[in-house]
Amino acid sequence: MSILIDGATVKENYKNLSDGLSLMRQIIDNRVKIVFFDPQYRGVLDKLSYGNEGKQRGKARSALTQMTSETIEKFLCEIDRILIPSGYLFFWVDKFHLVEGINVWLRALPDISAVDMITWDKMKIGMGYRTRRKAEYLVVLQKKPILAKATWTVHDIPDVWDEKVMKVHPHSKPIELQKRLILATTNEQDYICDPAAGGYTVFEACRLTNRNFIGGDIEFGDSSCL
Ligand SMILES: C[S@@+](CC[C@H](N)C(=O)[O-])C[C@H]1O[C@@H](n2cnc3c(N)ncnc32)[C@H](O)[C@@H]1O
Repeated sequence: MSILIDGATVKENYKNLSDGLSLMRQIIDNRVKIVFFDPQYRGVLDKLSYGNEGKQRGKARSALTQMTSETIEKFLCEIDRILIPSGYLFFWVDKFHLVEGINVWLRALPDISAVDMITWDKMKIGMGYRTRRKAEYLVVLQKKPILAKATWTVHDIPDVWDEKVMKVHPHSKPIELQKRLILATTNEQDYICDPAAGGYTVFEACRLTNRNFIGGDIEFGDSSCL
């Protein structure tokens, strides 16, 4: 059974060229088992403009559409609406927002709470004013009712994850980790959403695990749904 409203212009198991908010607005309430959300943070770009980073490697990043805090908050509201009860949100958070705190985006969502966090060791050293970046952070949030045993079935995923990625997008995330999280928290044919999909690593993880994908990106996709 489809999770989309009647007359939806976005498609399931497809790279929708679409704004993530308008994509999620076409999904019926409480239908998605898990969501991966990897925002295009603005703050990071402001903080990363040092040395060559701003001019060379930063170029590909700064060309991408950035999200304001207000946009991120709106995405989280829609995610809360489409998630099934006890569904998980895997939320990629950069070092700066992690330290400053993500609660500012969750204040209007009392039924979603942080329940875990995974540090991804990229096995590749990046730039930094003080220490050099080698990790990214995945905060695991859950919609109420908070249940661990009934919702998470794989118990060998470490909270520090080593994985090198082949970049198909400036911010490609690790497919194997995302695959393991999908296996831990969903069943075959369940729906998984990625509203800002970039290089579609979550879609690939869904294909490998026989799950249904609903997602898109404002700049990358196969057809325009704007
Ligand atoms: C950090 S990247 C995602 C990378 C992705 N997780 C991967 O593994 O390839 C964030 C993406 O958000 C997209 N984006 C920015 N604003 C958006 C919006 N309003 N709706 C959908 N996508 C958006 C950007 O184009 C960018 O590709």
